[in-house]
Amino acid sequence: MSFSFDLRATDGAARTGTIHTPRGDIRTPAFMPVGTAATVKAMMPESVAATGADILLGNTYHLMLRPTAERIDRLGGLHRFMNWDKPILTDSGGFQVMSLSSLRKLTEEGVTFKSHIDGSKHHLTPERSMEIQKLLGSDIVMCFDECPALPADRDRIAQSMELSMRWAQRSRDAFGDRPGHALFGIQQGGLEEDLRAQSAAALREIEFDGYAVGGLAVGEGQEAMFKVLDFAPAQLPVDKPRYLMGVGKPDDIVGAVKRGIDMMDCVLPSRSGRTGQVFTRRGVVNIKNARHADDPRPLDEACTCPACAHYSRAYLHHVFRAQEMISGMLLTWHNLHYFQEIMAGMRAAIADGAFAAWEADFHAERALGDI
Ligand code: GUN
Ligand code: ZN
Repeated sequence: MSFSFDLRATDGAARTGTIHTPRGDIRTPAFMPVGTAATVKAMMPESVAATGADILLGNTYHLMLRPTAERIDRLGGLHRFMNWDKPILTDSGGFQVMSLSSLRKLTEEGVTFKSHIDGSKHHLTPERSMEIQKLLGSDIVMCFDECPALPADRDRIAQSMELSMRWAQRSRDAFGDRPGHALFGIQQGGLEEDLRAQSAAALREIEFDGYAVGGLAVGEGQEAMFKVLDFAPAQLPVDKPRYLMGVGKPDDIVGAVKRGIDMMDCVLPSRSGRTGQVFTRRGVVNIKNARHADDPRPLDEACTCPACAHYSRAYLHHVFRAQEMISGMLLTWHNLHYFQEIMAGMRAAIADGAFAAWEADFHAERALGDI
């Protein structure tokens, strides 16, 4: 069985469909929880699946450093290693090198860097990134790319995009023919419409199984990001999945789907779960706040997650303050559940041709503020 994408319905620019993979279907628009180090922090894999996730994201950068891709391969691949049998998408490493490691040296060949864990020296190229993602057993492999933080000047953005397009060709060549596994290209070009168009044309020429919009959510703000998303998705093939990398907050996700994005990933729901930040239909709640100390109500009465079904705000406040491990577990579960509920709501609304009404409700509920 091979990798394919069925676009089922559209509503304006918004789309809903299914990505078929040998490890199961991915309903789109899809939100991918981040499992950087072979775990979605504070969650058992079966709990992640119970929130409604069809696919996880893993990271080449972290796993190559620890425990190494070769070790994961010897142990039967990433799915078996972490006990997750649904699809996994892996990011290619270049972006994480730029944000996490030190002493980075970028050349045409690739990037040399020092590990943020132990200072050891490593080299990553398009070819090595493809090899690592193959050793991991990733279902959706990302091209090796590079992007500057914004704001950056146009020359720097153009040069970086052109380098990433040469790396995209090298990634394609190194990936080869792997039935059932997909390779996604990554569009770059900053906020510039013509550079984005050039990047899209280069990727379409190479041909990928899906196309990511990269280089966003790197400091430009929501308004600038949405401006790019007003043109970028339409520059990519209509019959392939479009993945917006590293986004975002609930309103970013809704705005991205409205503009034609099919997949997203973000650490926000899982990371925020561990810092006491909770996302609900009524906006953001900080469980650390003293106003919750005596509150017997759940975070969200309408939520069916375990944190809302069985625990009060007072309890969640207490365990957060006491730094008990169950705090991160429950809040992460709730946040992931809420993000998946947004995705399910959008999928149903798009299929019904009712996305505008769904979006109006989404914003109206948030405007009410927390209970
Ligand atoms: N994660 C968030 N943005 C990016 C990007 O532009 N490239 C890659 N590889 N990963 C990302
Ligand atoms: Zn909940």
